[in-house]
Amino acid sequence: MDYGLAGKAAIVTGAAGGIGLACYRALVGEGASVVVADLDGTAAIARAGELGTTCVGVGADVANADDAERLVETAVSTFGRLDVLVTCAGVFHATPFDTITADEWDGVQAVNLKGTFLVAQAALRVMIPRGTGRIVTVASLAGQTGGIGAGASYAASKAGVVALTKSIARLAGPHGINANCVNPGLIETPMLDGWPQEALEQTIAATPLGRLGTPQEVADTVVWLASDRASFVHGAHVDVNGGLYTN
Ligand SMILES: NC(=O)c1ccc[n+]([C@@H]2O[C@H](COP(=O)([O-])OP(=O)(O)OC[C@H]3O[C@@H](n4cnc5c(N)ncnc54)[C@H](O)[C@@H]3O)[C@@H](O)[C@H]2O)c1
Repeated sequence: MDYGLAGKAAIVTGAAGGIGLACYRALVGEGASVVVADLDGTAAIARAGELGTTCVGVGADVANADDAERLVETAVSTFGRLDVLVTCAGVFHATPFDTITADEWDGVQAVNLKGTFLVAQAALRVMIPRGTGRIVTVASLAGQTGGIGAGASYAASKAGVVALTKSIARLAGPHGINANCVNPGLIETPMLDGWPQEALEQTIAATPLGRLGTPQEVADTVVWLASDRASFVHGAHVDVNGGLYTN
């Protein structure tokens, strides 16, 4: 199937991590060029070099407005365009509700929610005048159900990402830009290192498909949403969770 992504330019945030890395590789596999962005700039630059394409690695903190702008400027100055934004940067916390500090709360919202907003806002400044673009955000099952293994700060930030994505869809749709959200369930990445083993086993047992998902399975959905094959999918959230939660 031709996804129509050949020659397109994308930004993937959190691209040194499990899901972001799979998204970056999958987009390159479809012929796109990618700004590989991560807080870990060394890893981002190393990853960008591994596929021998025109990709560029950038160290950036998505919670910083100047860094968000710099990612978009990098896409435009390197590739002359920005067609796709995928926001995978995120931090996980499982702190029990009564011990979440105000600093932890602010830190989680800053990366997961404000970071998604800042990069999307910067991207739309370029996409809207061109009248085309695709934004795919990564929220979480936790934002739909409340935290199972995750803490309230994380779950609330991810529910915010869903609402933010729907708001972007309302604003940007009339300008020819699609915006959608992916809600992963439990996906086998370093982020699960923060999960208590017992909670992990119970959650897998409660998953109808009986296993964890892979980063590639999330990336396959992201690529579809970023492509011409999902041209009338808009303001949606797509669950990639093995049936753990259906709505
Ligand atoms: N793994 C799961 O089970 C799961 C489930 C639901 C949602 N998600 C979401 O998927 C996304 C990717 O998670 P993952 O599982 O690949 O985790 P990961 O920890 O492997 O990757 C996250 C990446 O984000 C980067 N990052 C963190 N803070 C950043 C910042 N301020 N600026 C830029 N980059 C930053 C990290 O350096 C890391 O490379 C996250 O938003 C996460 O919340 C993951």
